[in-house]
Amino acid sequence: MSQLKNKKWLFSSDCKGRFSEVMHLDAMGRQTIIFNSLKSAFNVLERRTGNYSGRPRFIMAQEILNEGLGVILMDYGELWRRLRRAAHDAVSRTTVQNYHPTQTKEATVLVSSLLEDPQIDIICKMEEEALMRAAQRYDIFLRLFDRVRADIATGGERPSFSASLLRNHDRYHLSEPEMTFLSGQMYIAGFETTSTTLMWWTLAMVAFPQVQRRAQAELDAVVGRSRLPTFEDAPHLPYVRAVVREVLRWRPPVPFGVPHAATEDDWYEGMFIPKGATCLANIWQCNHDRAIFGEDADDFRPERHLDEGGELLPGPIETNQEGHVSLEREGVVPDTDTFIDTEFLCDHPTPYDCRIRPRFPEVVSILSEERERFKGD
Ligand code: HEM
Repeated sequence: MSQLKNKKWLFSSDCKGRFSEVMHLDAMGRQTIIFNSLKSAFNVLERRTGNYSGRPRFIMAQEILNEGLGVILMDYGELWRRLRRAAHDAVSRTTVQNYHPTQTKEATVLVSSLLEDPQIDIICKMEEEALMRAAQRYDIFLRLFDRVRADIATGGERPSFSASLLRNHDRYHLSEPEMTFLSGQMYIAGFETTSTTLMWWTLAMVAFPQVQRRAQAELDAVVGRSRLPTFEDAPHLPYVRAVVREVLRWRPPVPFGVPHAATEDDWYEGMFIPKGATCLANIWQCNHDRAIFGEDADDFRPERHLDEGGELLPGPIETNQEGHVSLEREGVVPDTDTFIDTEFLCDHPTPYDCRIRPRFPEVVSILSEERERFKGD
């Protein structure tokens, strides 16, 4: 059990090599099944989703801290279906486009802040401030939600998940606390994953300067040096997008996924999965599988996502567009050199030092002009 304390995905991956790609642990009576291959995780958790959409019981994280209303750790049921429908609509491919202006502004603010105070801590600080102390969460969510409601009443609302929920709450049949918690949960789910990705991305740029140079060269060729990149540039930046994809593969922010639970007894390839068992997909191992990614699966190599013509190969749907703009904007600015690996669901890098400086003098004025443009928003 003590070997599962830290980086359990690594221990589990090691067991895959020595034992089986599907592991069973009896953790003091709690039956846990770990799927250490894409094939087994997909065949069970995805193909038999009807039996695996449940979540195990989380007494502290769900029942106490989130009053049973947290959608991420919620067991399958009627409330989960209503919350998930609302969440799904608000982050659909078409709806997320409404958030582009806000994402662009926030990416600009992040890059400017990194330049003013060149510490990667800024990303962590955002996380600390945003995640707040668990006990205060509901009050803070409530206050933020009330502010959106007031903005709607005065006609000053900006496109947001909360605004979309409030405008359509009849459709989703959600109570006030349900809407408030859902907004807060979306924030938490999206925030920590995105900031963790940014931290790993920055570390990769420090550790692999040749990748950084090539991404910068692509940005110079496509965007030039007189403006910041926008969402419209993304289709023309295959290498930068391959870097983002490689960061998510190389250091998946949620390496052990979010635990599922089996609703009924099941069998997989002669192995018994008891009803109520906690089921984990070892995303780390799937992403580092030599049978899929080759002998260099542990290496950071964005080219693996490109075809011979340098175009991005078909891959997973890139829903996390927020990550994209932030990463591309950072690509204009930082020139990081030296670097000297916490976890609940997310795997953060251990704090490291790096130097972040403008690549060319115009960066500072371009950024301040952009910030000026956003003033009053
Ligand atoms: C790099 C970015 C992200 C990563 C790596 C990531 C990863 C994950 C993973 C592994 C799960 C568990 C899926 C499962 O049950 O098997 C999950 C669930 C979830 N994520 Fe994300 N996520 C990211 C960004 C976001 C964003 C931006 C949002 C919201 C705006 C979000 C909202 C959610 C929600 C609500 C769930 C629970 C869904 C459910 O139970 O059906 N995530 N995410």
